[in-house]
Amino acid sequence: MNIGVIGAGTMGAGIAQVAATFGHQTVLFDAFPEAIEKAKKTHEKIFNRLVEKGKYSEEQKAEIIGRITYSNQLEDCKNCDLVIEAVIEKLDLKKKIFSDLEALVKPETILATNTSSLSVASIAAACKNSERVLGIHFFNPAPLMPLVEIVPAIQTSKEVLQKAKAVIDSWKKVTVITKDTPGFIVNRVARPFYGEALRIYEEGFADFATIDWAMKELGGFKMGPFELMDFIGNDVNYAVTESVFAAFYYDQRYKPSFTQKRHSEAGWLGRKSGRGYYNYAEGVEMPQPNKDEKLGNDILWRIQVMLINEAADALYLNIATKEDIDLAMTKGVNYPKGLLQWADEKGIQHCVDTLDRLHNEYLEDRYRCSPLLRKMAKENTKFFG
Ligand SMILES: NC(=O)c1ccc[n+]([C@@H]2O[C@H](COP(=O)([O-])OP(=O)(O)OC[C@H]3O[C@@H](n4cnc5c(N)ncnc54)[C@H](O)[C@@H]3O)[C@@H](O)[C@H]2O)c1
Repeated sequence: MNIGVIGAGTMGAGIAQVAATFGHQTVLFDAFPEAIEKAKKTHEKIFNRLVEKGKYSEEQKAEIIGRITYSNQLEDCKNCDLVIEAVIEKLDLKKKIFSDLEALVKPETILATNTSSLSVASIAAACKNSERVLGIHFFNPAPLMPLVEIVPAIQTSKEVLQKAKAVIDSWKKVTVITKDTPGFIVNRVARPFYGEALRIYEEGFADFATIDWAMKELGGFKMGPFELMDFIGNDVNYAVTESVFAAFYYDQRYKPSFTQKRHSEAGWLGRKSGRGYYNYAEGVEMPQPNKDEKLGNDILWRIQVMLINEAADALYLNIATKEDIDLAMTKGVNYPKGLLQWADEKGIQHCVDTLDRLHNEYLEDRYRCSPLLRKMAKENTKFFG
């Protein structure tokens, strides 16, 4: 199969690297020559490092890079069998690209979008044959992150879905299938990791360092929420939260936080600006957490149960299978355990009781328990086994 990648930025360059590594002739297109030059340099640098590490020989490096055609002409994609679009997140631009591409490629060519937040149905609608369009959502960095969310739009044919999934599976990725709804699986289910941590901070229960400590030391997460938001960038993470909130018709469960908004407005974006929730300037000491185990476990459980509730509700609303929901969170964002498996271990009734306690205390819709958890508690069933 010949692969086309549209947009040679962070994601496009990474996806082209994966395709070429797995033996495909790959066209990497960008409208801007400087973006193409940058992607070329990035590939050289990455493969030089891989050669130094002994992962590839010089010949293999030349072979892989040799499979990539760096192009400023969309026409170069005309012989591609699968084209993955990864341009900036603008609906009008993506629609124009899909309509231009359709006029160019073979009738059976599959057209995919790497969008994180737009509806795949709306992008597919730009094509006369929208059955050939689907979402193929990689995580950053694409060559390293194992998870890929496969997103059929309501228009996508079964055959296109199966073919596209088979290609991505052959790239040794872990694929999950998700409904075309805001945030797909990962960016939907993960919202409370940030949102509930921010809420706990805002209520004055604990500071950033203590919340991060609880999630890492007691929960086994690789990074704490504040560390992670500083890593992603508060501007980027806040924008995702705001767009998910709007996309869910302002469901209170996804309400953004003023703390993050102010950090973003102040330019305290995180590591990239030298200061976020933490100050990364040289010589500045990091704040010490309060290692009170009772407090730590309370923090961990409150965030965990909100994540579990989100995962259960995603299953309740048929966003994905229970297996795929758990896989997505462990392979896409490195959670130490699948959330539904965690729910089984913690006890479904315990989850319901905690959510009901929070709901009664705050009288906020944010804490409403998923009907699925409630039903399972009543029937005394588990997600697995
Ligand atoms: N960065 C992430 O973490 C991430 C993760 C998953 C998905 N995504 C999605 O992937 C897509 C790309 O994101 P990114 O982070 O790589 O962005 P980026 O800004 O790094 O790259 C976008 C590229 O699109 C190019 N571009 C702009 N206008 C174009 C046009 N008219 N024709 C062709 N190319 C054009 C730009 O020159 C740039 O090279 C977005 O839809 C984003 O939502 C991003």
